[in-house]
Amino acid sequence: MTEHEDILGKIVSLAKRRGFIFQGSEIYGGLAGVYDYGPLGVELRHNIKQHFWDTFIAMRDDVYGMSAAILMPARVWEASGHTELFTDPLVECKICHERVRADQPEAIHDHESRHAKDKKQVSWSDPSVFNLLVGTKLGSSEKTATPVYLRGEITQGVHVNFKNVLDSMHPKLPFGIGQIGKAFRNEITPRDFLFRQREFEQMELQYYIRPDEEEGKRQFEYWKQFSLDWFLGLGFSKENIRLRAHEPDERAHYAKDAWDIEYKTPFAGWKEAWGIHHRGDWDLRRHSEFSGVDLSYTDNETGEKIIPWDIECSGGVDRAVLFVLLESYTEDELGGEKRVYLKLKPKLAPIKAAVFPLLKNKPGLVAKAESVYHDLKKQIPQVAFDDNGNIGKRYRRQDEIGTPFCVTIDFETLENDTATIRERDSGKQERIAVSELAGFIQKKIM
Ligand code: GAP
Repeated sequence: MTEHEDILGKIVSLAKRRGFIFQGSEIYGGLAGVYDYGPLGVELRHNIKQHFWDTFIAMRDDVYGMSAAILMPARVWEASGHTELFTDPLVECKICHERVRADQPEAIHDHESRHAKDKKQVSWSDPSVFNLLVGTKLGSSEKTATPVYLRGEITQGVHVNFKNVLDSMHPKLPFGIGQIGKAFRNEITPRDFLFRQREFEQMELQYYIRPDEEEGKRQFEYWKQFSLDWFLGLGFSKENIRLRAHEPDERAHYAKDAWDIEYKTPFAGWKEAWGIHHRGDWDLRRHSEFSGVDLSYTDNETGEKIIPWDIECSGGVDRAVLFVLLESYTEDELGGEKRVYLKLKPKLAPIKAAVFPLLKNKPGLVAKAESVYHDLKKQIPQVAFDDNGNIGKRYRRQDEIGTPFCVTIDFETLENDTATIRERDSGKQERIAVSELAGFIQKKIM
């Protein structure tokens, strides 16, 4: 394994050691493709979601937010085409009977390499199709229980509420509905940490437009660029992000056109982070047919009834978390010492600033540091206090979790009410008035 490829291993280890991400149900042996977010991970994920919510929903006049339920009846998924078409090709190893996705050369190669160690050559079954939807039943009696699915994409929760939003908010085309929430897929080969999971979170916008080819092309281009700009705003360098068009045979069953935003991972090259899909009238038309409820839009001025088309922006929250961690993981030397730090944008950092007393055994310094910490926390809740070990160790601990600023209370603070503030990436320190700390940090974390 090259040093480059091993970055994923280093991220997995840092994420566990420092309370970002843990294997799901780890003390019971873990559940494949399921992860739990710890105290720092949940803050990082929240910051990414907030950035999406602000940019795609709250700051726009033409987009509404919503939050639909995870459980939806089987009929929804028949209408959306997922019951029939949401499948992956699967092959079974004839030696150990493990099942692997037939269209993932890395998974096939990894499996064959495992048997090759015992000098065995794998032969595979013919490919069969495997549906990814995760189903369950609701109701107390086996006979009458209703089959439901945990949504395979959050999208359908928006489409089935199209009429509710029309009737309650009276929007005019074009307009969008965005949401963030969990989706579930029975992935055959969950792999690469947060990249391919069975339970994950999505952030999506369904943008409804007039059914017109030129308008479709214009809106599609607009949302491609908008998504790319948003993604770059997470702090990626331009050379690690690209837009790629799907080949016609790659597109999902609902897509007239589809592009991905991809991230150049150090472990497996370019990988999908985000999709922009031209879904046409597929969803609203099918739900109208299957539910019997008219989901058309009536133009107030012309009285014309139309089924709008949908341009979708769909991103994986967990993939964004993983790619942000990969992009920000940095090893360097500072003051002659090796260090590891997360070069997170301050806006995304789980902790914005840490406050230290220079010495732990000087009650005057500790009391002042505690008071500065409590005052700061009222204005910036994501602030930490640390008096463990020496100051160098405290800096390293905060660097490793991406804290952009460390504030040290020293003897001069007691004399003139100024403190040193140290910037994570450069290690540079400056002295500023304690009364200006909150304003200084606020400006940098916007
Ligand atoms: N509504 C459209 C849709 O769901 P998708 O390309 O299947 O499209 C959208 O998924 C995004 O969800 C992907 O770009 C990816 O970021 C994320 N995603 C999909 N499957 C995932 C999985 N198994 N684990 C983690 N993220 C996943």
